[in-house]
Amino acid sequence: MSTLYIYSDKDAGEPLVETGDLKEIARLLQAEGVRFEQWEAGAKITADSTSEDILDAYADAIDRLMTEGGYKSVDVINMSPNHPDKLALRQKFLDEHQHSEDEVRFFVKGDGIFYLHLNERVLALQCCAGDLISVPADTKHWFDMGDTPNFTAIRIFTNPDGWVAKFTGNKIASEFPRYEVLAR
Ligand SMILES: [Fe+2]
Repeated sequence: MSTLYIYSDKDAGEPLVETGDLKEIARLLQAEGVRFEQWEAGAKITADSTSEDILDAYADAIDRLMTEGGYKSVDVINMSPNHPDKLALRQKFLDEHQHSEDEVRFFVKGDGIFYLHLNERVLALQCCAGDLISVPADTKHWFDMGDTPNFTAIRIFTNPDGWVAKFTGNKIASEFPRYEVLAR
């Protein structure tokens, strides 16, 4: 289930806050300038749904967000536990990094954990099916999909070519609990 943990960035032990209340999560994230909301599908998504079906089912919400945020493109990605590159793909975004544009993700199925390093705190948010998160440009963050990743997500970009990770070199991510510990 969707859960937010807030830690001091100097103490990866007990979180200062742990909540699964979606309204409270949205409020706490909004205070940091991070968009978090729930979208309803306009049509049923099944195992046979194509990327086009998925984009159609969420077209209204996607159009609204793209207009509001000035985004230009959208795609759908799938990660499955039998993906041949799953370990490399997990590792790819597991260290603290930044992007020059927002990282916008809507979880159609499955889950993953975003860790946002903001204002001397680490906010670890497990996003699940139905959750939209927009990590603002330049926010220090990392992402953990676990070692058996299993999700389908809509990605919304200003410019996919510009969505390159700049690693900060800070090893903070290795200090905080990973997906296996935090996922609910
Ligand atoms: Fe990222």
